[in-house]
Amino acid sequence: STKIIIAIDGYSSCGKSTTAKQVAARLGYTYIDTGAMYRAVTLHFLQRRVELTNPEAVTSALDSLHIAFSFNPETACNETYLNGVNVENEIRKLYVANLVPEVSAIREVRRAMVTQQQAMGRKGGIVMDGRDIGTHVFPEAELKVFMTADPIIRAERRQIELWAKGEAVELHEIAENIKKRDHLDTTRTESPLRRADDAQLLDTSFFTIDEQVDWVIRAYKAKL
Ligand code: C5P
Repeated sequence: STKIIIAIDGYSSCGKSTTAKQVAARLGYTYIDTGAMYRAVTLHFLQRRVELTNPEAVTSALDSLHIAFSFNPETACNETYLNGVNVENEIRKLYVANLVPEVSAIREVRRAMVTQQQAMGRKGGIVMDGRDIGTHVFPEAELKVFMTADPIIRAERRQIELWAKGEAVELHEIAENIKKRDHLDTTRTESPLRRADDAQLLDTSFFTIDEQVDWVIRAYKAKL
């Protein structure tokens, strides 16, 4: 059977990665978390104190950047490596999340990431989630899903997730982070977040994870 490209885009904390991961597992596809890549770049820039407004500094920092994913059988998840170091936990922290939209708005950063993403997905059999997958990285993807959810519900879900990782953050702080990210992601000049014309809308406000996964699988089967 032919292996297609499934592009999942949408706002922050709608359950994109959870859904994409499980869809990939059900189909025997590879899951690629592009948000993790932008988070890793951000961590790299933070560690090197890169001045974001200095194009030469950005380019040279990108030259010394290597991002890879490696499967951890214990968690059954792909984990993110930055120059050989496992940064999976670090990149999920709020101090990184706060700066990602600024870093991911830089043209040189997007070019470098998109090139790597296209190389990883070329052969199909992937579920890729992000902000610009259906519009920019793989405009020819066979199945495109655009995920959204009520902002309050998204903040609550995010809070529970951070709790589970031992980070206690106030709901209003998370809501602000989500609002700020949505705003920056949708208004930037370089491939902003928007629903592709041919993307199917999935509002997860009142869906369980299982229901979200089933929804995408049904959309996938309808494409075959
Ligand atoms: O998906 P996640 O929340 O991990 O993404 C973190 C940030 O990375 C987003 O808020 C956005 O600024 C950026 N991003 C992007 N393009 C993508 C994926 C993520 O700009 N394809």
